[in-house]
Amino acid sequence: MEFDEPKILIRRAQATDLALLGVVGPAAYAEAYAYLWGNPRAFLRQLKTFSEGAFAEHLHRETARIWVAMVNGDIVGFLTMNLGAADPVTGSAGGAEIARIYILGPASRLRLGRRLLKAAMEQALAEGAAYVWLHVMASADRARRAYLQWGFSELGRTTFTGGVAAGLSEMVVMAMPIVNRVDRSLAAR
Ligand SMILES: CC(C)(COP(=O)(O)OP(=O)(O)OC[C@H]1O[C@@H](n2cnc3c(N)ncnc32)[C@H](O)[C@@H]1OP(=O)(O)O)[C@@H](O)C(=O)NCCC(=O)NCCS
Repeated sequence: MEFDEPKILIRRAQATDLALLGVVGPAAYAEAYAYLWGNPRAFLRQLKTFSEGAFAEHLHRETARIWVAMVNGDIVGFLTMNLGAADPVTGSAGGAEIARIYILGPASRLRLGRRLLKAAMEQALAEGAAYVWLHVMASADRARRAYLQWGFSELGRTTFTGGVAAGLSEMVVMAMPIVNRVDRSLAAR
């Protein structure tokens, strides 16, 4: 039996994507991180930061950028980036924060995350950034493994203040220089 290759597209988000982003966002977050939350109100507050309205605010912010990942015409993931944001450990200038990168479970391991990051790093480089950085929950083994594979290294630790369950608030700050790294470390395999 023959299977067609999935048709993959990475592109910048537009206003017509906002309704779907408001569905994919909370779904992908809850799928990966529901285990962090003991308090339902705090969990709901966190889910609302992935709402259509929250994406709309991000899309219109001058220093923010959003990409979507599509498989066979469906949005299955996204990346949001904040330009001009220094990492919280070194405070170095020239930082671009990869604020959110989420792929729905059934579309994971298709290298969509890697491709989203490559698109974001190319844009960050074009806009004068020197490095990208991100926060990841210390307990998120799968995401941390992906980031190490993609070329990030650990800068330090911080604490998430959104009200997660006891013992689960530790976050890792990871970073990667951009110049000359976009193609070498993120070439599609
Ligand atoms: C982390 C994430 C963005 C990676 O995106 P992706 O498109 O799946 O990434 P890749 O296909 O390049 O996979 C990279 C590595 O991630 C890890 N990984 C990704 N999905 C996985 C899964 N379902 N199970 C186990 N490991 C997984 C693996 O180490 C994988 O490498 P491998 O396939 O060679 O073993 C994506 O899996 C995701 O959205 N996860 C849930 C949400 C999340 O944690 N976001 C980050 C918040 S900081």
